[in-house]
Amino acid sequence: MKIGLFYGTTSAATQEVASLIQDHLIDCDIEILDIYDDTLERMSEFDRLIIGCPTWDIGLLQEDWRSKFCDLDKVDFSGKKVAYFGCGDQNIYSSSFLDAIGILEEKITSLGGMTIGH
Ligand SMILES: Cc1cc2nc3c(=O)[nH]c(=O)nc-3n(C[C@H](O)[C@H](O)[C@H](O)COP(=O)(O)O)c2cc1C
Repeated sequence: MKIGLFYGTTSAATQEVASLIQDHLIDCDIEILDIYDDTLERMSEFDRLIIGCPTWDIGLLQEDWRSKFCDLDKVDFSGKKVAYFGCGDQNIYSSSFLDAIGILEEKITSLGGMTIGH
């Protein structure tokens, strides 16, 4: 099974976490894609997806995810298992902690993606 890990980052924390996940999935065929450089349509190439998005600007998606959000509609998520991770700050932004993950999860689920985890 090919796994595509798609992440967006502004200050590189999520990129670092993406690398840590890759290091732990040593027996997996995993490709890491920064959505600043890659199109979201490439999600169609993978059986399984890991989505990484930090929350910015009080409850919003990271800026690359924000600008490419509509491109999710071009991906057929049916049959794809999808896991999510993200960076945030639970002290300063406790009322919107990791909200971006929920925004993406709701959207991708509505397009047929099957969420793994809580
Ligand atoms: C202006 C600003 C707004 C932020 N808003 C939120 C937020 O609403 N919720 C949250 O969990 N984290 C929030 N954060 C924290 C970032 O998500 C955190 O710094 C994260 O590590 C950034 O990830 P990145 O380096 O991959 O871009 C905010 C940070 C800043 C500077």
